[in-house]
Amino acid sequence: VPVQYLDYRALADHGWELTDADLFEKAADTDLEVGDYGEFRAEPGQPLLKAAEEAGHAWPFACRGGACTNCAVAIIDGEMPMHSSHILPQEWIDRGVRLSCVSAPVSDGMKVVFNVKHLPGLEELLL
Ligand code: FES
Repeated sequence: VPVQYLDYRALADHGWELTDADLFEKAADTDLEVGDYGEFRAEPGQPLLKAAEEAGHAWPFACRGGACTNCAVAIIDGEMPMHSSHILPQEWIDRGVRLSCVSAPVSDGMKVVFNVKHLPGLEELLL
């Protein structure tokens, strides 16, 4: 599964919003570092956090068990269900946020913004 990723900090730096329809196009047109924007492949069923790490990325995490929200990502495109029990309220799941340590892509491709643990409102759930 090809996974395009973008660091939430790049949004803050450039004044972009998660809801911008052309977010990844803007990222592609900007001179971002490889750690901030790019693409890697995830194996089917492989948790996104693990796939990112195997691709050489150091995404934030703490518990690796769905209990802390440090690993939260926002889905811009694609599907990534969460199966195991976790701390994330339904409200955030409805907004496309997933815990990358306990969810794996199931669609043909993904676009995700990682490092969204500092989203207002999500931050309070951080342990
Ligand atoms: Fe704690 Fe994923 S690392 S919820």
